Amino acid sequence: MRTVTRASELSRAPQGTRAVVMTMGALHGGHLALVRHARAIADEVLVTLFVNPLQFDDPADLEGYPRTLDADSALLEAEGVDILYAPDVDDVYPGGTPIVTVSAGAISDVFEGASRPGHFDGVLTVVLKLMHLTRPDVAVFGEKDAQQVIAVRTMVRDLNVPVEIAVAPTVRDDDGLARSSRNVFLSPGERADALVLSRALFAADAAARWGAAVPEALRAGAEVLASVPSARVEYFAALDPLSAQPVRGDYRGEVVIAVAARVGKTRLIDNVSSHIARER
Ligand code: PAJ
Repeated sequence: MRTVTRASELSRAPQGTRAVVMTMGALHGGHLALVRHARAIADEVLVTLFVNPLQFDDPADLEGYPRTLDADSALLEAEGVDILYAPDVDDVYPGGTPIVTVSAGAISDVFEGASRPGHFDGVLTVVLKLMHLTRPDVAVFGEKDAQQVIAVRTMVRDLNVPVEIAVAPTVRDDDGLARSSRNVFLSPGERADALVLSRALFAADAAARWGAAVPEALRAGAEVLASVPSARVEYFAALDPLSAQPVRGDYRGEVVIAVAARVGKTRLIDNVSSHIARER
């Protein structure tokens, strides 16, 4: 694996396909599943590792974000990654905070966007910059961040970005907890409480698959969430998988059921894809 800290050292072979996996490091099984997906679909795999200040609305969150470069590098080497691009802030933002940025539009008004002002603009700006710097044929993202996938797909469509988007399913621990770089902050008691997120999503999905309409499916999940009051829920909702907007009660078709909650000081998100067959 070749490790590069400057974009000026990122050449691209004239032949073969390149897949890029963008990460903020503190790598776990979820990230590695994206790398394996990339390995399976492209000749060359490039991983970016950059904690992007532009997408953090809370300076303490940025400051405290886990940084484990040596361990990350060893994991990527073992996965047969060809190139690791792990730049400093100066390499990505040589002029400081950029003047021109990408706007996620209405996607910023809802759920993760509403909870974290500026977050998706910051994500899309760095994703577009990293696409320009690494010039991939395909970029692989995780379903774990469903609204991020919607934002990236919308940017690629609306701005004619010539990169294919691939999505890999959410990797979970055996008990259902979605893998996240933030899980390291959970105490054993908090980790047990955090299981309520996936349990609520699975309950809502099961209700939908048994024929519940949107409000009933959400009610089934909300009951589960209410059983663990220490999980402070920010939102629990059904989203349109193309627009990320909340669906109406009489909606039928594919939905993303998504949740965000704080457990202790740690903010966690999770989601499942589901199908609503019955109209209210
Ligand atoms: P980060 O949180 O490091 O996630 C990097 C990629 O890994 C994202 O596509 C995310 O959806 C995926 N991922 C994280 N946990 C996962 C899990 N349990 N299962 C499957 N995939 C998982 O997302 C970001 O970084 C940043 O916003 C980034 C896109 C790198 C831009 O800065």
